[in-house]
Amino acid sequence: MDRYAVFGNPIAHSKSPAIHARFAAQTGQSLQYEALLAPLDGFRGAVEAFRKAGGRGANVTVPFKLEAHDLADRRSKRAEAAGAANTLIFGDDGVLADNTDGVGLMRDLACLGCAVAGRRVLLLGAGGAARGTVLPLSEGRPAGLVIANRTVGKAEALAELFKDAFPGIRACGFDALADGAFDVVINATSSSLSDAAPPLPAGVYAPGAFAYDMMYGREETAFMRAAREQGSSRCVDGLGMLVEQAAESFFLWRGVRPDTAPVRELLRAQLAERT
Ligand code: ATR
Repeated sequence: MDRYAVFGNPIAHSKSPAIHARFAAQTGQSLQYEALLAPLDGFRGAVEAFRKAGGRGANVTVPFKLEAHDLADRRSKRAEAAGAANTLIFGDDGVLADNTDGVGLMRDLACLGCAVAGRRVLLLGAGGAARGTVLPLSEGRPAGLVIANRTVGKAEALAELFKDAFPGIRACGFDALADGAFDVVINATSSSLSDAAPPLPAGVYAPGAFAYDMMYGREETAFMRAAREQGSSRCVDGLGMLVEQAAESFFLWRGVRPDTAPVRELLRAQLAERT
């Protein structure tokens, strides 16, 4: 049976094995997918050992996405643009790194009926999670794309990387957002992990604005709560993105596209049961 795995640290609570087991059952693919804890200083060795043991590919999560990008022999355009990889494909000619996070976000937004084209989009954060979304968001042809970050210099550096691909890109700190109203606000900071929301001034959310947190949890995240209080009419977490990025990885490995709808519903129901 073909073997796949997700590497992370920590990894025990990963939902990826359950998601890929559903995809495999649904598409009739014979594969095994497990969660593997890699030592913080031993990611490369863990991947090599898995590959030698017959592994065909892997997902990679926090904190190894940059290392996954670096260890590969070849990289997709998406991985190159993100500077990080969440998917590895092991072939006879070496390791190919790809990044399915951005397409996962875009598919989730599409599933949720959130259009990006022609809308004013605000991306919060300038770390690894944000970086992976700038290219796909730009390709969605928004009216404008502003990257705002606590450390302004990091937002500016990120915008600089993509300004040739998308001249409408701007960067600033949270305070400078005071005059801007946005239709779509995406939180790619890790603030919700510490139950905090980026301090956004009033007036950020345009009437009918959509707020999206790439994090998810059993309850509404701190960002979603703050967005609702500041006037966003629709606040969504990143559970759908998790399923969509997994589906794209599955497609890269197996050449078959799973139906994400029932898996999205199942995960949502499981999360609700635990609250
Ligand atoms: P990731 O790979 O999840 O993006 P990261 O590269 O460490 O992780 O980036 C974390 C992001 O969340 C950064 O944009 C960080 O802002 P700084 O660059 O100023 O550090 C942002 N962040 C983390 N906690 C935050 C908070 N409480 N409020 C606002 N931004 C926060």
